[in-house]
Amino acid sequence: MGKELTAGIIGAGRIGRLHADHLTRRVPGVRVKTISDVILDAAQNCARETGIPNAEEDASRIMEDEEIDFVVICSSTDTHAAFIKEAARVGKHIFCEKPIALDIGEIDQALEEVEKYGVKMMGGFNRRFDSNFARMQQLVSEGRIGEPHLLKITSRDPAPPPIEYIKVSGGIFLDMMIHDFDMARFLVGDEVKEVYANGAVKVDPEIGKAGDVDTAVVTLTFKNGVIGTIDNSRKAVYGYDQRAEVFGSGGMVDSENMSENRVHLATGGGISEDLPYYFFVERYTDAYIEEIRQFVDAVANDTPVPVTGLDGKYAVVLGWAATKSCREHRPVKLSEIDPGLE
Ligand SMILES: NC(=O)c1ccc[n+]([C@@H]2O[C@H](COP(=O)([O-])OP(=O)(O)OC[C@H]3O[C@@H](n4cnc5c(N)ncnc54)[C@H](O)[C@@H]3O)[C@@H](O)[C@H]2O)c1
Repeated sequence: MGKELTAGIIGAGRIGRLHADHLTRRVPGVRVKTISDVILDAAQNCARETGIPNAEEDASRIMEDEEIDFVVICSSTDTHAAFIKEAARVGKHIFCEKPIALDIGEIDQALEEVEKYGVKMMGGFNRRFDSNFARMQQLVSEGRIGEPHLLKITSRDPAPPPIEYIKVSGGIFLDMMIHDFDMARFLVGDEVKEVYANGAVKVDPEIGKAGDVDTAVVTLTFKNGVIGTIDNSRKAVYGYDQRAEVFGSGGMVDSENMSENRVHLATGGGISEDLPYYFFVERYTDAYIEEIRQFVDAVANDTPVPVTGLDGKYAVVLGWAATKSCREHRPVKLSEIDPGLE
């Protein structure tokens, strides 16, 4: 590891507090100097809890601070692209939570600035850093299951977010399935050419009234011929359901849910085990730490970041393709959303 790096965090909500905690306690070689939030109380509380010396209301205090090497953007989605552009212009490396933006044009502009100013930018797809999914990807890429034929991802949340959030989130395909689209590309190691989505309202009629679905299945056709399916539900009564499988000519890899222990209780009445972790914070703690550790490592050693801006763009394009497919009841090619992605 090279010299100690100095970080600034923008946004002290759910995910900002999580990264602040990890960067201050779990990742070596970093000093977090400032956290900002438009709700100053939120920034101050987080600073107090994690020992970050400065809390600011205005993120420009981070941008204009020459000591700060990189920014971690954890504010609301609609602010990401502007912060990326601003950070790039002042020569700061960038870690940005997903999605970069909901608008593809805005993503392109942000990525152009990153390219132009030669800073590093990594997108926040934490699941790639989960030890199970990372191992699956490694085995697939080493050819251990032969030629991949089929991919299956199951991804179900324990409870839906508030309706107010659903109205601005971009919908299930851009807010929730976006992680699974990235996982699909990661596990198969190839690009999707077409998606076919089907959705229903099964969990809460209010979600339907807000113009979204809460239950969905998407079929993906990859350029290399692999066929994939992803299923999402906003409500699994047994907890956070995160499973994946890749099947190929020479075998299969899969990974099951994680829970706090591996204990089975066997009695005359049956065999039981505890429920999976409740949600993403519990299930993916180690993955979030590894994700930000690898970003810091890439900045410190001037090596490529493991998740690129283009990865971030692909996930959003897939989200829009699935949204269109679901609305129009037909397969949609990625090139319909972005003609640049043939
Ligand atoms: N990778 C993941 O697993 C994951 C999980 C949750 C959220 N996210 C993403 O992280 C982002 C934040 O989500 P969250 O759940 O933490 O939301 P949140 O609402 O809990 O927190 C967002 C915070 O950003 C602050 N904010 C808004 N505009 C700001 C600005 N201009 N400057 C500074 N702060 C500003 C808000 O006041 C709020 O405190 C979203 O883009 C979301 O998609 C990613």
